Amino acid sequence: SRRKPALDEKLSSPLQVFGQAKKQINGIFVNIQDYVANASERMTDMNIECPDVINEKELKSILDYRSKVKGICEVLTRDHMKVAFFGRTSNGKSTVVNAMLGDKVLPSGIGHTTNCFLQVEGSQTGEAYLVTEGSKEKQNVESVSHLAHALNYEKQLNEKELVHVYWPKDKCGLLRDDVALVDSPGVDVTPHLDDWIDAHCIDADVFVLVANAESTLMITEKNFFHKVSSKLSKPNIFILNNRWDASANEPEFLDQVRKQHMERATDFLVKELKVCTAEEAASRVFFISAKEVLQARVQERKGLAPNSGALAEGFITRYKEFEEFEHKFEECISKSAIKTKFLNHSQQGKHLIDEICKIMETIFKRSLEQTKIKGAQKKEYQEKLNFTNQQLENLTNMLKIKIRNVTDDVEDKVSKALNDEIRRLYVLV
Ligand code: GTP
Ligand code: MG
Repeated sequence: SRRKPALDEKLSSPLQVFGQAKKQINGIFVNIQDYVANASERMTDMNIECPDVINEKELKSILDYRSKVKGICEVLTRDHMKVAFFGRTSNGKSTVVNAMLGDKVLPSGIGHTTNCFLQVEGSQTGEAYLVTEGSKEKQNVESVSHLAHALNYEKQLNEKELVHVYWPKDKCGLLRDDVALVDSPGVDVTPHLDDWIDAHCIDADVFVLVANAESTLMITEKNFFHKVSSKLSKPNIFILNNRWDASANEPEFLDQVRKQHMERATDFLVKELKVCTAEEAASRVFFISAKEVLQARVQERKGLAPNSGALAEGFITRYKEFEEFEHKFEECISKSAIKTKFLNHSQQGKHLIDEICKIMETIFKRSLEQTKIKGAQKKEYQEKLNFTNQQLENLTNMLKIKIRNVTDDVEDKVSKALNDEIRRLYVLV
């Protein structure tokens, strides 16, 4: 059963809640930017004409706020949801990313061991290209083999390095809705887990542990997530028991194996990491076959039936479970990203507006006093002050009424999105 959309419009995917919130908060900050620009220009002008109304400190504060708002606006347009995939080498991380993208985007399999961090995100231009760390050069990518070549041969890449892969948005819903997917080398191949986490994980909204259903959770995998959860409070972690198609070979053990994996994964999330409740763990652990899903989606792209290839028994069930994972994942990442990306900005925005209003009011009062004191003086000067008073009053009212209302509105929306989360934490406590 799909959750009711938190925002006004009817949404077909929970991911769009993020997109909508982003659009709204961007709009608000563009408005704030206009007002602050307007205010600072007027104050600069006024300071020249009536130097004793505004002091240097006030003028400087407004100019500072102006650049702060500009900075927030820039961050806001760049913000996206981020999911990072981890697990031992060959568990199928790159295949899971491809399955979610619905196409063979990243190299996988023999000879295509992932040897650096790869972040796939939507390309604005509709072209596919990659950009290596520290470079601005866009290297065109025509195909997965081309990408594999670029990654393996053209440059000796460091395992910690991040390569951005920009893929056409129209080819994948996730990319259209601003999700960035980060593939990684196997956690068993590096001694630098801490550096990895600091460099690539601190801002991830969701982590996906790609485990191998044919074996069990390994110490290296567990260690990695212990480190992650020591650095981030309650990270959102999904566990995919991949290669579940292998279970088709041994149907007599299927239920038993599933139960055992489920118990271990649940214990890991609930008792060891303490990141969720046992009930929640049920919607965090899945049994899937990324290879099958990828194959089916590639077939569908070609206009063929998804189950037209050679498939093991139980394919439909596994495919449905993958879709269920995707849905839970979408709900989780959208909610988390709204909180981590926007709550802080919306609070900062309100604070800025309060501060600006305070300054404007102080100036307004001072200006009224000046009008009185200098009332007896030159008529011309008084007219100037009257005009200034009027301007200030208008501007302050605009700031107060308009922006205040819209930020309240956004905060209201963010807090609605947060309610579930707070309830969840409350249950945990
Ligand atoms: P590294 O990049 O080397 O760390 O590996 P990885 O975790 O990215 O694994 P990758 O996606 O390259 O997959 C390794 C091999 O496992 C490939 O040959 C995949 O086709 C295969 N594989 C991935 N998922 C599945 C699955 O669900 N079932 C089966 N049978 N094979 C799979
Ligand atoms: Mg890989």
